[in-house]
Amino acid sequence: MPEGVEYEDLITQADAIHEAFGREFKRFDRFAVDRLDPNAGSRLQTELLSEGYSLTDAETQLRELNDLRIRYLGKKSEWTATKKKIGGIVDPQKRGWAGQHLLFIEAGITDRLEKARLKLEETIQGLRAAREIIDVTIPGRRPRRGHLHPITLLRERIEDIFVSLGYAIEDDREIETDFYNFDALNIPENHPARASQDTFYTTEGFALRSQTSTVQIHAMQRRGAPVRMIAPGRVFRRDTPDPTHNPMFFQVEGLCVDRGITMAHLKGTVGEFLRRMFGPKTVTRFRPSYFPFTEPSAEFDFSCFKCGGEGCRICKNSGWIELGGSGMVHPNVLRAARVDPEIFSGFAFGLGIDRMCALMYGLDDIRLLFENDARFLKQFE
Ligand code: FA5
Repeated sequence: MPEGVEYEDLITQADAIHEAFGREFKRFDRFAVDRLDPNAGSRLQTELLSEGYSLTDAETQLRELNDLRIRYLGKKSEWTATKKKIGGIVDPQKRGWAGQHLLFIEAGITDRLEKARLKLEETIQGLRAAREIIDVTIPGRRPRRGHLHPITLLRERIEDIFVSLGYAIEDDREIETDFYNFDALNIPENHPARASQDTFYTTEGFALRSQTSTVQIHAMQRRGAPVRMIAPGRVFRRDTPDPTHNPMFFQVEGLCVDRGITMAHLKGTVGEFLRRMFGPKTVTRFRPSYFPFTEPSAEFDFSCFKCGGEGCRICKNSGWIELGGSGMVHPNVLRAARVDPEIFSGFAFGLGIDRMCALMYGLDDIRLLFENDARFLKQFE
């Protein structure tokens, strides 16, 4: 029990602690509002909102308030030590007054701390709820829609034209045996196209088809004659990529086999296809050529769709655009597909879709078509 404590000293000491508390509590003052006064609550709310007071601010302040409580009223606080001195006042009356005085101060401090704690907790709850609010009236995010690749768009246009001419669409395998890729197409044993510099082979010795002409054989074997079909699809060649070459590209093959089919049917069909594709004034021209699987063979060009034949950048001032190869199906090819060349004859043609696509859309490099750059592809939406 402390001995000989002066009443006045103790009161002064207690008042000094009270004052110090008051100074430190200042920043919590606005939270120490009367809980039963609804106006005070909403005023505070508006004030905090306008200041941009955040949830983190409130959480930090609550922690600081708790620290303040421990510092002023905790077991090791100056206040607790001061309270213990009351017993040292000799005069019982003064001892009573001192007890009352300190009790009064402590009740005030506790009350302010408690009010601020409750208000801060309420504020935290409010701010948390605001953060979690889901506004069901906000419009949803529109999902990004894909669209067809320019090669697909062009392929579909070609398909539509040939379907309207009575042609079926064939889709066939991309990995072939030598029989379909070469033998059945009358490509001799020593032909350079068979060499691994030109054709990709799998480790098991299968060829990645180097042209869609392979589908001629499958279609005739499957359907017999007469047959009219086109076969769009991927083909592969060991070509070094450059603005007009890719090691993987697309072709469309056409085949028509029936009794009495002649070169005139070939010219009529290709001409009609190109007129529907590029306009009624389009002119087609055939130049003699050579393919092992057709005899006679011809390459075909059409009058430039941009300048109409006058000469421009697209047709390199020639007025013509080269498109593909064609010819009358070689009797050996018909035989390989078990079609009798004494009864049936036919024509076939093939063209590259990628280069045609590049011409039509004014691309100066066909490699752009397979770089998967969404900014480029978006233009074809
Ligand atoms: C052929 O592939 C023959 N099968 C076409 C044919 C079919 C002739 C039926 C007779 C009868 P060619 O090798 O020329 O022909 O290729 C045809 C088209 O494919 C070319 O005109 C060109 O547009 C395209 N092409 C060829 N190589 C590439 C390549 N590396 N990259 C992009 N396109 C190519």
